[in-house]
Amino acid sequence: MTFSDVLVSASQDGAIARAVEKILAGKLVVVPTETVYGLAADATSSEAVLKIYSAKERPSFNPLICHVSSVDMAARFVDMPDIGVNLAEKFWPGPLTLVCSLKPKSGIAEEVTAGLNTLAVRCPANAKTRQLIAKTNKPIAAPSANLSGKLSPTRAETVQASMGDRVDLILDDGPTNIGIESTIVAIDDSGITLLRPGTITADDIFNATGETVKHRNSSTITAPGQLASHYAPDAEVFLEQSRPAEGQIFIGFGDIECDVNLSRSGDLHEAAKNLFEALRQADKGLPIAVAPIPHTGVGIAINDRLKRAAAARPEASDD
Ligand code: TXA
Ligand code: MG
Repeated sequence: MTFSDVLVSASQDGAIARAVEKILAGKLVVVPTETVYGLAADATSSEAVLKIYSAKERPSFNPLICHVSSVDMAARFVDMPDIGVNLAEKFWPGPLTLVCSLKPKSGIAEEVTAGLNTLAVRCPANAKTRQLIAKTNKPIAAPSANLSGKLSPTRAETVQASMGDRVDLILDDGPTNIGIESTIVAIDDSGITLLRPGTITADDIFNATGETVKHRNSSTITAPGQLASHYAPDAEVFLEQSRPAEGQIFIGFGDIECDVNLSRSGDLHEAAKNLFEALRQADKGLPIAVAPIPHTGVGIAINDRLKRAAAARPEASDD
């Protein structure tokens, strides 16, 4: 099979039908979401889910997000407390992942949760991918479509270049709108806990529901994927630099002179959208200096990803 067979436009006639067929046959399909591209497989098939771990070279202890096409579909697999239903009704389809108790006999392959008794569920905003999920009528496990520890892909071409020979189909729906992965919150009797910041902020959740979002105690790793280093370019990354040192590539923010600008107008949503592509473009072997990003609103999620990009890399990094 050549690359051109693997990459198809999601709008092309028959593309979704072909993707449905592949998923039902236990194959790997790269799907667009509003955040980043995902590496999708049937979450009810251990064999299919194991292919995700092996294609990504992902450690088996790091669980996967299950994608659904509606709140009702999510409720087939998890016990959704009222606050979960409320959050889903307010923010779905959209970049919010809810970690809830897994239902007994949910049918979800145990490899998806890496043995946990919780499941992360999310309904993505991309209409083509929701269509794919609805047509398969299967929960779809999909981590970001990058090799474990590398930058998440915001374009189909990036996935093709790094994983084109490891997947059965890539649905191209253009560059993603949001650019960084979904916000993840855990919901249990104690309320809402933020596990991964994203463009839906704790303030957004408070404003929509009146619920205060607790922050994860950093000494306990409740999201196994929250290890210090991932989203890593190959080059060394220096943060909060007002100007680059000699021989560094400079990623800027705002109206400054730089090699790659996250947002000339200083818009944090635009910066999030450009973040991973900017790191990828800057990753040419020279060290990378990054301008300070305000630590408010979406800036919190951007700084989270940058901190991980700059962290020392352990042997087994995250996802
Ligand atoms: O925007 C996104 O969320 C993208 C798109 C493709 O949907 N997906 C994504 O998946 O970022 P991934 O696998 O790269 O990150 C999922 C994170 C990991 O840090 C994992 O540890 C955490 O979710 N996670 C999954 N299931 C969990 C669970 N039951 N409890 C706690 N954390 C969980
Ligand atoms: Mg990932």
